[in-house]
Amino acid sequence: MTTIPMSPVPLPDSPSLISTLPGHYYTDPEIFRQEQEHLFESMWFCAVRSDDLDKPGAFRTVQVGRENVIITRTRKGELRAFLNICRHRGARLCMEEAGEVRRSLQCPYHAWTYDLDGKLIAAPNLIKMPDVDRVEYGLIKVSLREWLGYAWVCLADEPPSFEETVTHAAVERLGDPAAIEHYGTENLALGKRITYDVKANWKLIVENFMECYHCATIHPELTDVLPEFAEGYAAQYYVGHGAEFGAEVKGFTVDGSEGFAKLPQVSADQDRRYYAMTVKPTVFINLVPDHVILHRMFPLAEDRTVVECDWLYAPEVVASGADVSKSVELFHRVNEQDFEACERTQPAMTSRAYRKGGVLVPNEHHIGIFHEWVLERLGGGHA
Ligand code: FES
Ligand SMILES: [Fe+2]
Repeated sequence: MTTIPMSPVPLPDSPSLISTLPGHYYTDPEIFRQEQEHLFESMWFCAVRSDDLDKPGAFRTVQVGRENVIITRTRKGELRAFLNICRHRGARLCMEEAGEVRRSLQCPYHAWTYDLDGKLIAAPNLIKMPDVDRVEYGLIKVSLREWLGYAWVCLADEPPSFEETVTHAAVERLGDPAAIEHYGTENLALGKRITYDVKANWKLIVENFMECYHCATIHPELTDVLPEFAEGYAAQYYVGHGAEFGAEVKGFTVDGSEGFAKLPQVSADQDRRYYAMTVKPTVFINLVPDHVILHRMFPLAEDRTVVECDWLYAPEVVASGADVSKSVELFHRVNEQDFEACERTQPAMTSRAYRKGGVLVPNEHHIGIFHEWVLERLGGGHA
């Protein structure tokens, strides 16, 4: 049994430094199980890009905590989410990560068949069992909301307020409720998606994203475009602040060359700036004048996190077949540099050197707030 104290570690001697979580928070399967229960299965979880389900019957399956969830589009065009489990004897309904059915989902075991609203519509000998309620034995629904063109699902019986726990992150970070709307993310088109299989605990990836102390060391291309990042102060450090492009920089591209036309609603003070934000627990949003980069994390084990990263552009940019590789390459490199750093750190989490954790310097102190948030969600009880 592992104890999760409310205050994880004693204060270091130096006031410049505050402690991180101890190493076992990144390696203990029991703590990961608690995080699955109290974070990923309790909060709104960003599951799929709505456009990926482009027609009725299209489906995607995603892992949310310990549950597998199927998200599909009904014949009326609405998105629905269900536990990916047959109500008969529990076989997994869809094994594929993505696919398409015509009108119904059929279990491969004994052929119980559900319509796209989850209702049981057919089963061998069902006619001879008139007492079976087809709704009651339908698929188990999961709550679903759409925001920024993504389907967010929540496994909780009573989901927390979407506004307080999801959209509020944008207000808190950008200081203005309208600021994120200017990018029209829900109307953008997918220009590129890259999936990264990262051998690191999800919290290392969050912590890394929240600070820029490492930018000068590992992100030469990014600091060329955003010179203020070389100072080590992340864009997330100040409410409403976006890092300004360097004077010579024409666009948010790997070599600072021209990007695409500014998205139509992006305001003058948002132009030539980069804004990063974290929507806890698993989403990062990066806003630049001509595109949006959105990361969704899927924590699969205490030491493994799959990250899907989408590059989203104005629909006409994607439809025209324009070459997006220069802007994709910039953040793809940033991702690889970041995830390599996280993978370099993960093995140390089991070392005696990290038994009490490490330290955060002043421009990383906001990561301490993230740690407190995690501890609070875990209840400060026993894991
Ligand atoms: S387990 Fe699905 S039909 Fe039997
Ligand atoms: Fe980074």
